[in-house]
Amino acid sequence: MTSARTPYYLDCDTGIDDALAIAYLLAAAAQPDSGVDIVGIGSVSGNVSAAMGASNTLDLLALAGRSDIPVAVGAHHPKVGEFRGGAPHVHGENGIGNVELERSAASAVSESAAEMLVRLAHKHAGELRVIAVGPLTNIADALHLDPTLPGLVKELTIMGGAALVPGNITAVAEANIANDADAASDVFAADWFITLVPLDVTMPNVFLEEHRAALIRSGRPVASALGHMLDHYFEFYVGVYGHRASALHDPLAVAVALGDLALKSAPVVRVVVDTTDGPGRGQTVCDLRGMYNGYPEQSGAHTRVVLSLEDDFAPTLLARLLVA
Ligand code: BDR
Ligand code: CA
Repeated sequence: MTSARTPYYLDCDTGIDDALAIAYLLAAAAQPDSGVDIVGIGSVSGNVSAAMGASNTLDLLALAGRSDIPVAVGAHHPKVGEFRGGAPHVHGENGIGNVELERSAASAVSESAAEMLVRLAHKHAGELRVIAVGPLTNIADALHLDPTLPGLVKELTIMGGAALVPGNITAVAEANIANDADAASDVFAADWFITLVPLDVTMPNVFLEEHRAALIRSGRPVASALGHMLDHYFEFYVGVYGHRASALHDPLAVAVALGDLALKSAPVVRVVVDTTDGPGRGQTVCDLRGMYNGYPEQSGAHTRVVLSLEDDFAPTLLARLLVA
């Protein structure tokens, strides 16, 4: 089936920056001439449990007047081991900075996130764009349910990993990959075109107090709720940046997926995920030897790794969120 607009499926662990990502996607879809059709959102355990992530997503969609978008609960546990309780110190006890949103009257659909993804990939064969901003458990589960998935999906954009910079969970591992390294390994090994948006580009792009204040000042329900959520996120990042600010991980991945940003450096390379039990576990090993002159072209490279942007992302994000 073909549609005039491009169908997007978002997989997330909502989460404060996931909430920014959802709002960015909603704002893009709300443009009068929008080419963006949000056909489904799946939740996965990461920042919070998959159930809480779905509930936060539903509440946010209700606040935005978009309860028509189907939300599916995804995997609670990673492929190996158990969900370890999320990151309340980063995202608050409820995942959204302890801001209490009005509960949505809508419920999650009965299919799982992986089932929803497989169904949507068949419905929009060759057109569906998938954006994953949480651990990759649902995407790996969907691959397991239907190994033809890579041939059906137009592009998979992932927020995760660290190419040339340190990790944020271990010396080398970023949270989304570290939370399910085995799933991530399966996803990067499959034959589809991936765009990876790693810490290299998400850490240098930040929101500051002036951006947060503008969101609250707008008085718009979603923008203002996001501004209040960011209060908690800013506190966590004081220990990282030395002042109140927040990295813009997940919305940056959405903006890249929508083609909204000029990419400065984004080589297409091979990426493998370390699944050993040593200190390298969860590392996204990006073969960037092409940065040296004289190395031969890699065969089988299918992951575009976004290392830097031409412009600061914060103004683009703020402009979008002010109409959310
Ligand atoms: C990623 O981990 C989560 O805490 C954030 O939502 C983001 O997706 C950053 O490492
Ligand atoms: Ca996330």
